Amino acid sequence: MFLELKNITKTFGKTVANDNISFGLNKGEILALIGENGAGKSTISKILYGLNKPDSGEIFLDGKKLKIHSVLDAIDHGIGMVQQHFMLFESYTVAENIVYGKEPKKNGFFDRKRAAEIVRELGDEYGLHIDPDLKVEDCSVGMRQRIEILKVLYQNADIIIFDEPTAVLVPQEIEELLKTIKDLAKRGKSIIIITHKLQEVMDVADRTVVLRQGKFVGERLISETDIKELSYLMVGRGIPPREVEKKEPGKLVLDVEDLRYKHEGVSILNGLSINVHEGEIVGIAGVSGNGQTELIQCLTGLLKPDSGKVELCGEDISGKSVREIRDLGCAHIPEDRYEFGCARKADLEETSIMGYEHLPEFSSKGLLNEKHNQEFALNLLDKYSVKYDHMGEPAGALSGGNIQKLIVAREIEHNSKFLIAAEPTRGVDIGAQEFIHDRLMDKRNRGDGVLLISSELSEVMSLSDRIYVIYDGQIRGEFTRAEADTNKVGFLMMGGQNGQD
Ligand SMILES: Nc1ncnc2c1ncn2[C@@H]1O[C@H](COP(=O)(O)OP(=O)(O)OP(=O)(O)O)[C@@H](O)[C@H]1O
Ligand SMILES: [Mg+2]
Repeated sequence: MFLELKNITKTFGKTVANDNISFGLNKGEILALIGENGAGKSTISKILYGLNKPDSGEIFLDGKKLKIHSVLDAIDHGIGMVQQHFMLFESYTVAENIVYGKEPKKNGFFDRKRAAEIVRELGDEYGLHIDPDLKVEDCSVGMRQRIEILKVLYQNADIIIFDEPTAVLVPQEIEELLKTIKDLAKRGKSIIIITHKLQEVMDVADRTVVLRQGKFVGERLISETDIKELSYLMVGRGIPPREVEKKEPGKLVLDVEDLRYKHEGVSILNGLSINVHEGEIVGIAGVSGNGQTELIQCLTGLLKPDSGKVELCGEDISGKSVREIRDLGCAHIPEDRYEFGCARKADLEETSIMGYEHLPEFSSKGLLNEKHNQEFALNLLDKYSVKYDHMGEPAGALSGGNIQKLIVAREIEHNSKFLIAAEPTRGVDIGAQEFIHDRLMDKRNRGDGVLLISSELSEVMSLSDRIYVIYDGQIRGEFTRAEADTNKVGFLMMGGQNGQD
């Protein structure tokens, strides 16, 4: 083995995040690290990268014992990490970010020309092209990730860790990234990739290590396993296919007609019309960046459309504030959990009622009903199996998938006629995905309307009673559950026109 982790243990308070974990990584190998939310995947990666200090255990590289006390130590040993939340300087250029910490110098000064050359050379070598003079603030998510990868390559890493790199990418970007990862391995880099998407594991990895509740529970060569076995190893049970209870839709809860919105002269929403009834899950299928984000913002009061009608439960909501719209009966699972869903420093009780704290249930005369709210929070955490240490813990300390589960719990369980669920299972493990899907179904079966926006076509297909396909800020097609098929929907998602195929 090229890299070996031996008996790694790491605790946070009462939580044993890594419990005596051992595994190895071969040279040029792609190893997928999988497991449920809170299983300890990010923790062990951060130990390798010098961000977490283990309580005990040893790490060997080429047979030699390593001392990793900091990120600089890790980089020195050739270990690099592309973290899920990118660590770039927004106002610096691409080149400045990539060479940061190890700048090329000329006569003692930063050599800008050489830095740009370096970026071009690396780009040519690895097929990762990007304009070195762009400012990071003008880069898309996919480009930012490419910058992080180039940075790791510039630091000469032999081992590269990717923590859920595909969670934030659109399908084309995912395909490109997986190709890049395979390419890096062919050139002798050793890769650890964390992902909840088992198809990606099958497509890209050579071997997989499965963690459960901080423990190593098994490893498999990809050539000798399948998705079914892996999901069994991960959650300790099989995931049965969904059965959908028939339901007649009721009254309109959301009615959107001819919605238009322009940003800096560019049309984003081009006369979009959709509706959602009581007792119905309506899915929006589409490649991210086709107006989904702006549509959600227009529905929730974060953005004012230029024209068009938006009615919620029969009431016109144009000009209403975010809170007024919420109070009219619109709950919202936001696509970016850290930007809109929670505050990293707020504790779990605060996070459980955030956005609803002014309601009589949670406060009276400006004072929070502490006892009730604590019970309420406990119930949510328990029902959705959120893994946490204690109630006073900040939301930011929860693992990525667990904070997502808490936000989803708060919004689904809130008594509202309408729910916007944007990427509701982003970053959650397959067991929790199934659980969240069941709860969305319950909400529908109670007679509420759900608008589901997801870049996972399989999620939209399996849950929706009706599907709209969005492309270029317009609805390009509409299907009932019975009519929808992956090929037809996929064709329209890529900009194909009905009657053209
Ligand atoms: N800085 C921290 N402080 C307190 N607890 C932590 C901290 N980091 C991780 N934990 C806890 O350690 C456990 C493992 O977390 P980790 O982030 O490694 O999970 P994960 O496998 O990456 O999960 P996910 O798939 O949800 O990202 C969780 O219970 C988490 O709450
Ligand atoms: Mg994680």
